[in-house]
Amino acid sequence: ANTHSYDFVVQATKVKRLCKTHNSITVNGQFPGPTLEVNNGDTLVVSVVNRARYNVTIHWHGIRQIRTAWSDGPEFVTQCPIRPGASYTYRFTITGQEGTLWWHAHSSWLRATVYGAIIIHPKEGSSYPFPKPTRETPLLLGEWWDANPMDVIAEATRTGGAPNISDAYTINDTVIVPIGSGETNLLRVINAALNQQLFFTVANHKLTVVGADASYLKPFTTDTIMLGPGQTTDVIITADQLPARYYIAAQAYASAQGAPFDNTTTTAVLEYKTAPCPAKGGGPIKPINATLPVFNDTATATKFTTSLRSPSKAAVPTEIDESLFITVGLGLLNCPPGARASRNCQGPNGTRFASSMNNVSFVLPSSFSLLQAHQQGIPGVFTTDFPASPPVKFDYTGNVSQALWSPQRATKVYKLKFGSQVEVVLQGTSIFTAENHPVHLHGYDFYIVAEGFGNFNRKRDTAKFNLVDPPLRNTVSLPVGGWAVIRFVADNPGTWLMHCHLDVHIGWGLAMVFIVDNGVGELQSLEPPPADFPVC
Ligand code: C2O
Repeated sequence: ANTHSYDFVVQATKVKRLCKTHNSITVNGQFPGPTLEVNNGDTLVVSVVNRARYNVTIHWHGIRQIRTAWSDGPEFVTQCPIRPGASYTYRFTITGQEGTLWWHAHSSWLRATVYGAIIIHPKEGSSYPFPKPTRETPLLLGEWWDANPMDVIAEATRTGGAPNISDAYTINDTVIVPIGSGETNLLRVINAALNQQLFFTVANHKLTVVGADASYLKPFTTDTIMLGPGQTTDVIITADQLPARYYIAAQAYASAQGAPFDNTTTTAVLEYKTAPCPAKGGGPIKPINATLPVFNDTATATKFTTSLRSPSKAAVPTEIDESLFITVGLGLLNCPPGARASRNCQGPNGTRFASSMNNVSFVLPSSFSLLQAHQQGIPGVFTTDFPASPPVKFDYTGNVSQALWSPQRATKVYKLKFGSQVEVVLQGTSIFTAENHPVHLHGYDFYIVAEGFGNFNRKRDTAKFNLVDPPLRNTVSLPVGGWAVIRFVADNPGTWLMHCHLDVHIGWGLAMVFIVDNGVGELQSLEPPPADFPVC
């Protein structure tokens, strides 16, 4: 196994989009940022220097970080932010994961422009469980604001209203993906959008799905894939069509009923090397159009997410020690006393938007990271009473009484015993509106054993659990107005954020934290914090 060292300089850079030049925060002046290409088993050492005017941290989305929680990255959860002018070095090893992951800033809305791909090739000496593709191309789907995204979120935080939707989607910085007739290309598709689930397709070409979130899948063929923010999907295309140019396209699978969304389409072009050239003086030949589902095509999205299977019998936990039922949804906070309603309470009916899990709207600490507080026994930073089930159960299919809309703001964590087998039912509440929530768990991959619409009903739905070959992922896209059941073994000590990967929701508190005990024994113990660990 190799060790790879990278230098990341976070800095303002001129980036041109939508005919305007923006002073965007980037890594090393690149947008998207540098691709990290490694093998399973390798170690990465990434030294991050912050030359921007914002606090920053970098998260390695989906990397298990086994016993290296100090390198996970979410601000105030595993570390204090890297202040302007400061630096921090992340060190971690890829353990057992192969496929595509990505890295992104984990501080406010900086990840709008601070992100890049992580490509994990098979362990040295081993190969893909499918024929080696001729080429590989990472495709990062992003979301773009014509304003500075940091101003967009600052404005929403001040007013209590919803932030403006984006103005465009992006694919890399690019556009042409070359291919030779008969060749295959492994497209590593990453949804780096802040707030939008996306459909993705390639005109006239079948997509053979072979992996997601750096776990292999039983291959299957489809026209369209759907990715929630945070998710990755590896697909293979074969150049078996007439030599020409074909659109690669992505657009919204709209998450909330009735809520505004960015309905633009972004494209790149798959170009056969022998595609005919325009005649002299003629304009460019238009690529062949891609057909995408309509924005609310839930049938297509569901067909895709429920088609994912592990390649063979999976090690799904079956002796559950910890069973949690966690509601995931919006809420509204009353205008705080003293606030100027017209200025600071511009949510519905003079409220402020909030989000919660089990009615707790998560508040990040500010004086210490949770990990440091936990490790060093610093009192007063968090409480351990995050509830294993919601305070009141109700009908989650809509028309929720307004009395249930108001969450409690607090920093509550849930303690899991090291090694325990955990099941979490994630239930969308449909408070205010039925929504999608891409729920991401740090530090773990989990099996998605079932998903469905409406209210989860244990008696009825247990029969649907796939305990044989469910997909292993780090982010589950909860069906709009539905639920999902995930299982994992708590075998990684640390403080692990679980949150909705819509940045608008995480800002409103749609998060909680698991503390996995780091008691005695080598596996339970964390490495000590590195010497350059940022303090608050
Ligand atoms: Cu991709 Cu907590 O994040």
